[in-house]
Amino acid sequence: MNEVPVIAIDGPTASGKGTVAQRVAAALGWHYLDSGALYRLVALRALQAGVAADDVAALTRLARSLRPQFDAGRVCLDGRDVTDEIRREDVGALASRIAVHPPLRAALLDLQRGFRCPPGLVADGRDMATVVFPDAGLKVFLTASVEARAGRRHKQLSEKGFPSNIAILLQDLRARDERDSSRSAAPLRPAKDARQLDSSDLSIEQVVAQILRWHGER
Ligand code: DC
Repeated sequence: MNEVPVIAIDGPTASGKGTVAQRVAAALGWHYLDSGALYRLVALRALQAGVAADDVAALTRLARSLRPQFDAGRVCLDGRDVTDEIRREDVGALASRIAVHPPLRAALLDLQRGFRCPPGLVADGRDMATVVFPDAGLKVFLTASVEARAGRRHKQLSEKGFPSNIAILLQDLRARDERDSSRSAAPLRPAKDARQLDSSDLSIEQVVAQILRWHGER
């Protein structure tokens, strides 16, 4: 049994879990796993190699041979910094489409569990609490209204210089939510023992403070 403590933070896309999880990890001096980045890296590789979204065998091979390097908030794949590329909307949409395949998900399990190193891990994704780290000491399900999430995504994208349209973002978020929650393999849903937190009207600081309070109560 792995004794290294884990805080699992799951939730829908653009719920703010990435920023929140990174800040919680920094506050505790723990490691951080952005599991969505792994699905995005597989999607990016599939786009580059011309692999179709339903070619499960080829996608699973891509996932199995994935050797990303995470360092100081940047991610490198095959010797190239792809931090900004994997944030593109087309890469995120493909990540969501290929994440429905159970063999691909299974191929990423060991890679994800390998991030569990002392003194602890804060992991963010969709199935951190339900599948990857079911023994996590604290499980948080972070939500926010689709309007709040579209607004945040719009701001994020325009800060990076990518133009975006709120109506299209709303449509894309709804489609992504639907696909991530209705798939049969590891659907997005709170673990039975997860604490739910709606961040629609909370600042990042308030969300981080709440999670650290919950952690401190344990
Ligand atoms: O968190 P994100 O938007 O970067 O994730 C991109 C896609 O990857 C998401 O739409 C679904 C998939 N994903 C998943 O299926 N399981 C995870 N633990 C994380 C992400």
